[in-house]
Amino acid sequence: MAERIKVLLSEEEVDARIKAIGEQISRDYAGRQVHLVCVLKGGSFFMCELAKRITVPVSLDFMSVSSYGSNTKSSGVVRIVKDLDEPLKDKDVIVVEDIVDSGRTLSYLLELLGQRGPKSMRLCTLLDKPERRVVEVKVDYTGFEIPDEFVVGYGLDYDQRYRNLPYIGVVELDGE
Ligand code: IMP
Ligand code: MG
Repeated sequence: MAERIKVLLSEEEVDARIKAIGEQISRDYAGRQVHLVCVLKGGSFFMCELAKRITVPVSLDFMSVSSYGSNTKSSGVVRIVKDLDEPLKDKDVIVVEDIVDSGRTLSYLLELLGQRGPKSMRLCTLLDKPERRVVEVKVDYTGFEIPDEFVVGYGLDYDQRYRNLPYIGVVELDGE
C-alpha cells in the first residue's frame, strides 16, 4: 500500500521552535556548561540542531537503548545497546529525546542515569503526546505537544524510514 506523508509541523516551524528552546537553555544555564545526552537514533537530528543554538559551553554524548517486549508497546525496561562514553558525575545534564509517548522508556532511563550522580538532570523533548502518557515523566523543555498520531521525520522513523525528513509528518496509507 502506498504511503503519503502529511505535513504536521513544517521545517520553518520546527527550526524556529528549536531556536527558541536553545535560547531558553542558554539563559537557564548562563555561566555553566551543559552536557547533552542524546538517545539514539531518534534524538540525533534534534540534538544537533539544538546544540547549534545553545550559546553556553556544550559537551555531547550518545547512548542507544532497545526496549524489551513487543515492538508496538514499549515495556519501559530498556537494555543499553551503547552506553555513554563519559561519566555523568557532577555534570549539568540535559537528556534530549525525539518524543515522549507512554513515558515508560524515559522514566526508566532517567532513573538509571540519575544513579550516576549528575549535578542536575533535565529532560528536553522535541515532541510530546500527553494523551498517551502511562507513566508520569517531568518534561522540562518541550518543542511541541501533538495529538495521538503516529509521526515521522526529524529523527522519527516508520520502520526505519523517514528519519531524514526536515519536517514532522503523519503517515497516511492510501486507501484509508
Ligand atoms: P515510550 O514513551 O516509552 O512509549 O516510547 C517512546 C519511543 O517510542 C520513542 O522514543 C520513539 O522511538 C517511539 N515512538 C513513540 N511515538 C512515536 C511516533 O509517533 N513516531 C515514531 N516513533 C514513536
Ligand atoms: Mg526515541
